[in-house]
Amino acid sequence: MDIQTSTGNLFDQKADTYIVYLPTNNRPLSGETAIADRQLRGAISQARTNKLFHGKAGHFLEFPTPTRSKAKRIIVLEIEDKPNALDINLLRTFMGTLSRQIRATKTDHIVMAPPSGAWRNLSDSEYGLAVTEGLVLGLYKFNEHHTKSDIESSFNVTLLAKSRSQLAALSEGVTKGKILAESTNSARTLGNQPANFMTPTLMAQNAESLANKHNIECQIIEQDEAERLGMGSYLSVARGSVEAPKFIILKYHGLPRRGNYLTLIGKGITFDTGGISLKPAAGMEAMKWDMSGAAVVINAIAAIAQLKPKINVMAIAPCTENMPSGSATKPGDVFYAMDGQSIEVANTDAEGRLVLADGIAFARKNGATRIIDVATLTGAMGIALGNVRVGGFSNNTRLWNEFENAATTTGEKYWRLPLDKEYHEQIKSDVADIKNTGGRGAGSITAAKFLEAFAGDTPWIHLDIAGVMNITSTNGEWVKGMSGTPLRTLVQLALNRARS
Ligand code: BES
Ligand code: MN
Ligand code: ZN
Repeated sequence: MDIQTSTGNLFDQKADTYIVYLPTNNRPLSGETAIADRQLRGAISQARTNKLFHGKAGHFLEFPTPTRSKAKRIIVLEIEDKPNALDINLLRTFMGTLSRQIRATKTDHIVMAPPSGAWRNLSDSEYGLAVTEGLVLGLYKFNEHHTKSDIESSFNVTLLAKSRSQLAALSEGVTKGKILAESTNSARTLGNQPANFMTPTLMAQNAESLANKHNIECQIIEQDEAERLGMGSYLSVARGSVEAPKFIILKYHGLPRRGNYLTLIGKGITFDTGGISLKPAAGMEAMKWDMSGAAVVINAIAAIAQLKPKINVMAIAPCTENMPSGSATKPGDVFYAMDGQSIEVANTDAEGRLVLADGIAFARKNGATRIIDVATLTGAMGIALGNVRVGGFSNNTRLWNEFENAATTTGEKYWRLPLDKEYHEQIKSDVADIKNTGGRGAGSITAAKFLEAFAGDTPWIHLDIAGVMNITSTNGEWVKGMSGTPLRTLVQLALNRARS
């Protein structure tokens, strides 16, 4: 799919489909919708009289055009008639749903323009961004292993501006939207690959090729070097697997000097069986998505490298499988993390925090000044917040506020949870400095408390994405399979930090 921008009048464009907007009221039609109605010989008004519109924002009707029109049909998208009703998040979702409808009807080319009206609450560049993200995210499909599937039809899009300045704003939004949505889709594909097609080695190869493509520094720490560096916590998870662990480091330099990295750390368990603390069989296949955090941070830094903000960013993805075997870690074993802290592994299924502990320790030794980790860390998170919001934790309210602010335009939702010191009691160990489980109560919080012990005084955010790692039914920009959350918020945060 190609999305282009140009100036001109909607009805002068030769295309398959025009898109116009209809506010959910009974006032006379205006603007392009009124012109469309005349072209359709009153069909829109008639549909309104016949109550074919639902009066529901996001609903749309298609009208075939008479032969005199330059388009074959007109899609009328309903918009709630309230001041500021149409914002960037709503438009993205509408376009996501519309994208699949358009694909199903074998369309070649659609043309649309930013609406006017009091219900509009987004700038021209946000319009370009929302439309682009909605279409590119909404059309995502992972069908690499369907050998008999049809070739999907795709279509091109033109966004029309009325002036040179509007054109510039639209184009800016489209360019940014393409980078963000395509990076999200690349992350989704890493996750959606079955675990035998996305081993730690393949994760590392993927990171290397992205690094080459976007001029990012890439370093892969192999097992023997990880041993020398003292990453005992991370390596304790890899012990049970025949797949080589890969600790991935990517660096983007937007500043003249190295260092001072905004550091994104993603949990990269390419398959989580639970290890010796084996998971039940039912639903275990979902654990191919346990590397979602890694997929997100690798592709987030690739997006950042394309947008070129003036900030230094490091992405770290400790990757390994978590398998049971004769050499696997046993519950009760003790290991030492890179920063010297000892850890009792009370449950080998609480492996995410073990790989992140060394990820965070490595980051702090290597120039990280702010850390955000992203991890499918606890099933308890899905119980607490379902699949709507990501649970967030932070030792620094300023950083958290910046993060939340970045999230307002991405449609990705978060909720901050507490880190009271009382919760630390649950992860005290009889034999080591700390243990990796804290019992049944507050499972997501005790996991975060464990990570906090490694973050120390570095400003840090932990995002537990277990609840939202995969979408169970397609809706709007969200397509069944790995979600790609929170890639777009992380990139927006980097852009905002570079600007301020
Ligand atoms: N990867 C899982 C968490 C998970 C569960 C993510 C379901 C997505 C969906 C994690 O490694 C895990 O197994 N956590 C344990 C922790 C427990 C042993 C303290 C859990 O949540 O049960
Ligand atoms: Mn686990
Ligand atoms: Zn896991």
